[in-house]
Amino acid sequence: MTDPVVNFSAGPAALPRAVLERVRSELPDYRGRGVSILEQSHRGADYDAIHNGALERIRKLLVVPDSHDILFLQGGASGMFALVPLNFLPAEESADYVLTGRWSDRALSEASTVGRARSAGAGKDGDRYVRIPRFDALELDPNAAYVHITSNNTVVGSQFHAFPNTGDIPLVADMSSDILSGPLDVARFGLIYAGAQKNLGPAGVTVVIADRTWLANGRTDIPQILQFRTHAKANSLFNTPPTFAIYLLGYVMEWIEAEGGAEAMAARTREKQQLVYAAIDEHPGFYETDIEPDSRSWMNVTFRGPNEELDQHFLSEAESRRMIGLKGHRSVGGIRASLYNAVEIDGVVRLVELMRDFARRNG
Ligand SMILES: Cc1ncc(COP(=O)(O)O)c(C=O)c1O
Repeated sequence: MTDPVVNFSAGPAALPRAVLERVRSELPDYRGRGVSILEQSHRGADYDAIHNGALERIRKLLVVPDSHDILFLQGGASGMFALVPLNFLPAEESADYVLTGRWSDRALSEASTVGRARSAGAGKDGDRYVRIPRFDALELDPNAAYVHITSNNTVVGSQFHAFPNTGDIPLVADMSSDILSGPLDVARFGLIYAGAQKNLGPAGVTVVIADRTWLANGRTDIPQILQFRTHAKANSLFNTPPTFAIYLLGYVMEWIEAEGGAEAMAARTREKQQLVYAAIDEHPGFYETDIEPDSRSWMNVTFRGPNEELDQHFLSEAESRRMIGLKGHRSVGGIRASLYNAVEIDGVVRLVELMRDFARRNG
């Protein structure tokens, strides 16, 4: 029997096989209704159960406290780069951004079109991102409207393994590429946002978890549709939500629950990243990574071989062994293995076998 394809794509990314099978089996006729869920009203009883079920599961899996609302929005994380400052950056204030990669640069650049926003520190060596800055090296503005971080840097492959203490200043995190890879102390955050297409489900829905009081104090002089409070008040049903994406996300949440929840995802993640980093570290001078050891991402492992030609060979050998999505982001090149929740350990074992074999033959 041929090995199953292992999808290491950075996003949209692997979904649990069991979820896809479930969707396939009930797609044409959702629970005997004679139509699919895609064709039903977002105000109907079937969708209502899906919507609230998905919200409840996220709340349970991440132990989201009562102080925080969970929203389903659209526009992706890029939409949130704009909505966060639109809602929370009044003209007389300034926001702090911790820069750790491409997406944090984008977040700052979007905020700068709305109001005053500044870098509170960057994890760079020259012009390359190589680390999460040490928290005592951050230059935080004691009067900042909020502090923004990108918890996992999908492109360069770095990750916050702890979070800075910002006291009374709301901490905002783009968690698009590591949300629900383990337990989280949600109460520490003013707002968390994540495009679903890596760890939570398909593209098309953006999950926001935010302090209710802070949301209620956001700006009111912007269009209603852009105000977080509008969606919080309407239970994310102010207008038509992306029903199919939320339905699928709900099944991914059920799958995570059945696998043992956030703790189980953390254990799987720990094991998967250890396997890949061990294979890198066993071959110094052959496999290299730009990222400093304590800033390494457990979700997106980035590395390169001795030259670009060998990287190309590696990628084609991987494809011939049915491993896809390993090409590094076009801005950094090399190889990137994304180890999101739906990537099984067996697949990662196949990757490290190739890494060892390839280094032996080409080193
Ligand atoms: C950390 C992070 N933030 C933001 C984005 C942009 O997300 P979207 O395409 O959903 O706007 C990505 C996409 O890969 C990402 O990884």
